[in-house]
Amino acid sequence: MTETYLHPERYAKSAALYQKALEFIPGGVNSTARAAFSGWQPHPIFADHGAGSHLFDADGNEYIDYLLGLGPAILGHRPPSVTEAVSQRIHENGTVFAMATALEIDLAQAVVAAIPSVETVRILNTGTEGVLYALRLARVFTGRKKVVRFEGQYHGFSDGIYWSKHPDLKQAGTDEHPIALPQGPGVPAEFGESLIIAQWNDLDAIEEIFKTHGDDIACIITEPIMCNTGCILPEPGYLEGLREITTRYGAVLIFDEVITGFRIALGGAQAKLGVTPDLTVMAKGLGGGFPVAALGGRRDIMDLATHGKVSIAGTYSGNAIAVSAGVESMRYLKEEADYDELYRLSDKLREGLSKLITEKGIQGYVVGLGPVYQVWFADAPIRNYRDAARHAREDLFRIWWEEMLDRGILFHPGHLENLFLSFAHTEKDIDETLAAASDALDALVVRSRDLIR
Ligand SMILES: Cc1ncc(COP(=O)(O)O)c(C=O)c1O
Repeated sequence: MTETYLHPERYAKSAALYQKALEFIPGGVNSTARAAFSGWQPHPIFADHGAGSHLFDADGNEYIDYLLGLGPAILGHRPPSVTEAVSQRIHENGTVFAMATALEIDLAQAVVAAIPSVETVRILNTGTEGVLYALRLARVFTGRKKVVRFEGQYHGFSDGIYWSKHPDLKQAGTDEHPIALPQGPGVPAEFGESLIIAQWNDLDAIEEIFKTHGDDIACIITEPIMCNTGCILPEPGYLEGLREITTRYGAVLIFDEVITGFRIALGGAQAKLGVTPDLTVMAKGLGGGFPVAALGGRRDIMDLATHGKVSIAGTYSGNAIAVSAGVESMRYLKEEADYDELYRLSDKLREGLSKLITEKGIQGYVVGLGPVYQVWFADAPIRNYRDAARHAREDLFRIWWEEMLDRGILFHPGHLENLFLSFAHTEKDIDETLAAASDALDALVVRSRDLIR
């Protein structure tokens, strides 16, 4: 794999900032996904500012942005009405009170109105917290301990669930019986004992797991569309099957809609796909670029928090910055955002990319729904993490990423990440992206000749 940018001279300021950052910040960045080892070799690119669907880096390079902060910039960068609502709130009210505010009710009401399964909701700060509390609620509600989670999914970084995200298949057990592997050292091994790891899109495996452990299983947690191993869609009937089995065994079904919420539809993937979970975790799409998350669902489960049987805490939960961003963002999504147009542009890009890949004789395809997708360079269909680990060509993806970056198109360098469209993307953005992709794929064909397995 190449470990440089095609034109290093275009990234001189980023390179210098990285050297300075390394003195004070481990790895020079504040999250794993931004680190050099996560694909940003030879050094992370430093962002300067965003404007709508475009991003400008520290060297002044301009990109059409499909990274979108890994999802939160669903309205594009600096959406004027959200920026205005937040700054007005800060100026006129303040930021944090450790007291309830009326505005929190507005946000909760908007989320309840939007998401089919949500009867009551707590406002939080991050998806990680939402998942942590969802698991706790499920365990107390059922009086059971075990959590079923899927290889290849990511549900935040808390000890109880930061397992088997992208495990090394040599250590991860057989396809039939995957073994729980912690994300790394420091995650206590005992947490793994409460997890049952399964492959996604395999309903028979879930049926088997419940036959053996049904009385101990508190919940299944899943993304309704798998967005942390590139993009993988649920096969027809799969989510319905998870719903049916969890209901039959009295287990809680948790949808982690941190990526899909408010993006696949205002009502999340659950509205689009017609499957109703018991609990839903929401985050990235909720705040128009500001940090806000939520956990909501059935009233009888959420009520465990009412009198503190399950404590859902957080100094910053429901702070005025997050809540004012959420309220305006939800208003915009409900009243002004044109989801049909977002889908039209997303489909145009996805179909255009698929066509180009086929025309140029490259083994690959594009998978996604609406504004979330990934390009797979693979010679076989990918329906779960193990397929991706075995068939997805990281080396080809890297070339594709470099060639697109060089042509002013930005997305995450990781082949297991996603591309996102925002409501700020325009027809012109899509046309320019497709033109860039045509050239980038030509370059890929040339550069990959030596790599073809
Ligand atoms: C599906 C999913 N769940 C949970 C999380 C964790 O959210 P946060 O980064 O806000 O803690 C993420 C983050 O990318 C995610 O993609």
